[in-house]
Amino acid sequence: MFVRRIAVVGSGYVGLTTGACLASLGHRVVCADVDEAKVARLCTGEVPILEPGLPELVAQGLAAGRLRFVVGAAAAVGQGPEAAEVMFLCVPTPMGAGGAADLSAVEAVVTEVRTLLPAGCVVVNKSTVPVGTAARTAQLLARPDVAVVSNPEFLREGSAVEDFLNPDRIVVGCDAQDAAERVAALYARLGAPTVLTDAASAELVKYAANCFLAMKLSYVNTIAELCERFGADVLDVTEGIGYDRRIGQAFLQPGPGWGGSCLPKDTHALLQVCAAVGFDFPLLQASLDTNTRQQHRMVEKVRDAVGGSLAGQRVGLLGLTFKAGTDDLRDSPALTVAALLAAEGADLIGYDPGVPAAVPGLTDDLQLTDDPLKVASGAAALVVLTEWPEFRSLDWGRLAELVERRVVVDTRNLLDADVLRRVGFEVRSIGRRPTPALTPS
Ligand code: UGA
Repeated sequence: MFVRRIAVVGSGYVGLTTGACLASLGHRVVCADVDEAKVARLCTGEVPILEPGLPELVAQGLAAGRLRFVVGAAAAVGQGPEAAEVMFLCVPTPMGAGGAADLSAVEAVVTEVRTLLPAGCVVVNKSTVPVGTAARTAQLLARPDVAVVSNPEFLREGSAVEDFLNPDRIVVGCDAQDAAERVAALYARLGAPTVLTDAASAELVKYAANCFLAMKLSYVNTIAELCERFGADVLDVTEGIGYDRRIGQAFLQPGPGWGGSCLPKDTHALLQVCAAVGFDFPLLQASLDTNTRQQHRMVEKVRDAVGGSLAGQRVGLLGLTFKAGTDDLRDSPALTVAALLAAEGADLIGYDPGVPAAVPGLTDDLQLTDDPLKVASGAAALVVLTEWPEFRSLDWGRLAELVERRVVVDTRNLLDADVLRRVGFEVRSIGRRPTPALTPS
């Protein structure tokens, strides 16, 4: 395998994971960020995000001299014989006005490094960007001797290192095949199926994948609602459909709606680019509408649980992050549900194992605590919003003594309802059969 000199611009969760993992594959990597304080922490091996395995990889890379951190893209590119052969763009592409991706960070980096990149260098876009961005980046670069490649990432927060090192596939797109092959070769040791294609197709793969996942979740949340109407059990239904290899068991857990920094942003962005070219995509729009409906449905469940009106009712929230195993609150369905509950007058207190009670300015309507017992104290209902496994082993007997009303709305179907029933709780789940499971005849 060729060892390459690689610059990674942007040291957020994608950039940092990419840099640390490429270094672990033997490449020489320099990661850059504009945040000086973050770079200083990274230089000492301190990883500012919760991502299993990442601190270890960063420490190994630093110790082996294969991983460095610098401030600014220009410093990462370097000069002379040490200059980068490949530069990864891993900067944020947040949702801008009207749902379109905001590409200003990508554009700023390209402008900064335009004249610094050595001839023959390859610029790789890993950020999720609209179809056509590789072509636009090439135009902005105006460097015919530098190829622009699209190489979307498929990392999930909380398992990003595992996903990087054991990928389902590598997708590399470029109109110049030799540049695409050079980027694909960086991952050769992983032995993953590799799709070599043009830049536009690679860019679309990322949106097509995330939007498909969003659709799958909206579908399963709708099936869960249907189960409630028919007295069926969504766990059995999803297990039953999941054995069909064309469907698969993954990504079939109903919840309070899907969220995070990717699925909502990417669904909106694809709809936006579709609208810009006059293309109607009702299936995708329906997935978003279903997600909004799901969040409102969770509020209905809590309202019912407290007896019909949320005004003045103390409601204890268990989980605030968009999924378990992360400290990320961006576009968290838990926070959307919390805001809707607060809008109806509920008095909210929340606990999340990944979020310190002192997190500033989260929301005015939600008091945070680092003690789950305080969440229960005087609560008219408890609501599980994130699937943190530790919620299963809370001292439910003690919680039962503290609450005002023994009812839990479990929007993640996480808890063992039998355990809770034994200490007097009523458990309201999503799409579950209201009575105990049938015993085999
Ligand atoms: C998502 C994709 O899964 C990754 O493949 C992709 O690389 C990433 O976006 C990205 O574009 O960077 P992530 O945002 O980390 O990853 O989160 P997911 O694990 O996909 O979860 C998204 C949401 O769906 C969460 O709110 C989660 O709780 C929810 N979810 C997931 C369910 O409600 N049920 C499930 O069965 C799975």
